[in-house]
Amino acid sequence: MRKKIIAGNWKMNKTPTEAVALVNMLKPLVANDEVDVVFCVPAIDIIPAMEAAKGSNINIGAENMYYEESGAYTGEISPAMLTDAGVKYVVIGHSERREYFGETDTIVNKKVLKAIEHGITPIMCCGESLEQREQGVTMDFIRQQVKIGLQGVTAEQAAGVVIAYEPIWAIGTGKTATTEQAQEVCAEIRKCIAEVYDDATAAAIRIQYGGSVNAKTAPDLFAQADIDGGLVGGASLKEDFGKIVNYK
Ligand code: 13P
Repeated sequence: MRKKIIAGNWKMNKTPTEAVALVNMLKPLVANDEVDVVFCVPAIDIIPAMEAAKGSNINIGAENMYYEESGAYTGEISPAMLTDAGVKYVVIGHSERREYFGETDTIVNKKVLKAIEHGITPIMCCGESLEQREQGVTMDFIRQQVKIGLQGVTAEQAAGVVIAYEPIWAIGTGKTATTEQAQEVCAEIRKCIAEVYDDATAAAIRIQYGGSVNAKTAPDLFAQADIDGGLVGGASLKEDFGKIVNYK
């Protein structure tokens, strides 16, 4: 049985002071050991959020990471900086990073490999645009993102990766994919993993759905056979996140 993983992606929200207040507010609401709970927060919030989350079931994750060890890469965060701060999860290749910061599948792959090398679990994002969905190329596109993103990753390593399927048209739009649409793509991703690796790896890897997940839609989405939790944006900044974590 795969343990569900429900992660908040705060995006570019919350100052360090606000981050502490939000962790303190959500701490009692997300106390559920049946699922892995992760708050992926802006880099400057990691240390104060980690302090505030001490003694709770909340894992603090990052929203991005660079693929070099250290050096002249102004503005970037290294994997060692994250591990030293106690970070165990990092979002890689979010569609917003792909769209606004030029991240390609090749860059995503380098970051995934580097995170794994440092013992950080990558939450590797994939997802099609509305245009791609309408053209009927969703599955081909997602397969390519997943295959390139995982190049050079061994089966054993892949089993520990988290993949987040986030259709771009459902992000921040209030338009959640239907449970059928979400399940269909997550099942296809698992099939792709079985083809690239093997059935055991496909059975172990955790696949999240993301895109306008809220307290109402979470129960149905998370009940699907191939959906192992969610990557939640807007609703992770509110009390609602407690309901999402306790979706049953
Ligand atoms: P929303 O939940 O705000 O649609 O954001 C989804 C997302 O992009 C999470 O990474």
